[in-house]
Amino acid sequence: MALSSILENISLQPYNTFGVEATARCFLSVATTEALVALLGGQGQDVPILVLGGGSNILFTRDFEGLVLKNDILGIDVLAKDDRSVRVRAGGGEDWHTFVQWCLRRGFYGLENLSLIPGTVGAAPVQNIGAYGVEVGDRIETVEAIDLQSGEPCRFKADACDFAYRRSLFKDRFRGRFFITAVIFKLSKQPQLITAYADVRHALAERKETTLTPQGLSDTICAIRRRKLPDPEKLANAGSFFKNPVISRQHCDELVGRFPELPVYPLDDQRVKIAAGWMIEYCGWKGRTLGACGVYPHQALVLVNYGGASGRDILILAEAVQASVEETFGIRLEPEPLIL
Ligand code: EPU
Repeated sequence: MALSSILENISLQPYNTFGVEATARCFLSVATTEALVALLGGQGQDVPILVLGGGSNILFTRDFEGLVLKNDILGIDVLAKDDRSVRVRAGGGEDWHTFVQWCLRRGFYGLENLSLIPGTVGAAPVQNIGAYGVEVGDRIETVEAIDLQSGEPCRFKADACDFAYRRSLFKDRFRGRFFITAVIFKLSKQPQLITAYADVRHALAERKETTLTPQGLSDTICAIRRRKLPDPEKLANAGSFFKNPVISRQHCDELVGRFPELPVYPLDDQRVKIAAGWMIEYCGWKGRTLGACGVYPHQALVLVNYGGASGRDILILAEAVQASVEETFGIRLEPEPLIL
């Protein structure tokens, strides 16, 4: 890779779905693993590095005084298949939804509930994207990455990735350390439709068709998302801005005693996930605006930039929402996007 392909003082506005203005000191589009390995030259870099996928889970509150590596590694390959299952390897820069549809067209199932999630394949394991009862970690076999500290390629089997609700080793323990070059998925050739999530059940009940195919489920999920969530192409946003808090059953019982309508989702014997969107709506934030940004009128977990808001404006709104939820429920909401 010629170092001359590193661009300087690049606006990051087109590269983040919040559409906020920020400048990267240096910027490089990485199209192949080999190019990245050559750039790193078998050693770490002394400038701060930020790996960017689709920019759909990031909030820039200032310029980035380092090197942005945009993951543009493409390519989808079937590695192996038998009658029941298939292993598919996708480049980290592939668009997530396009990849999900590619799999569906070939009869490779398991990702349909994750349809229409913005972002890239390489970003999916970082926050362990999840929707409508499925998390991507359940479908991943191996994550291939380059260690930005050593310049070395490495591979992580799924059980070494510490996948949990919106968490992974790449987001927590080793945040910022790895550039994910490709992900290998283990998918099924037999449909196993997961339809238990309330919104999915309700949408399916309204359909006229009696049979449900994986493509039909994907279409249903897309329709739910289009109804509830803003399209980042039309209204700048980064999906859910807050995670649903995970609390103990005892804490949950105490909260439900005070707020009987609070939606709760058991995770295991000890822990429960509670609906942050409901709490934000309860505090009166749904549909409210603060300057050029606001809380989305159809889903209170989503903050939107109506045009011209800065990252700091959005952060101020987020902090006001956090303070209000904390005052009412005694719970501090944790942001989902990376805030820089
Ligand atoms: N709710 C409200 N008001 C709201 C939003 C939600 O009362 O403004 C209530 C709903 O009525 C429901 C409960 O809260 O009873 C849960 O709402 P919903 O099913 O819309 O899901 P969510 O918990 O708000 C999560 C994910 C979404 C994902 C959906 C479906 C997180 C942080 N968000 O939202 O993911 O699409 O479930 O699985 O876990 C994302 O991460 O960007 C994202 C959109």
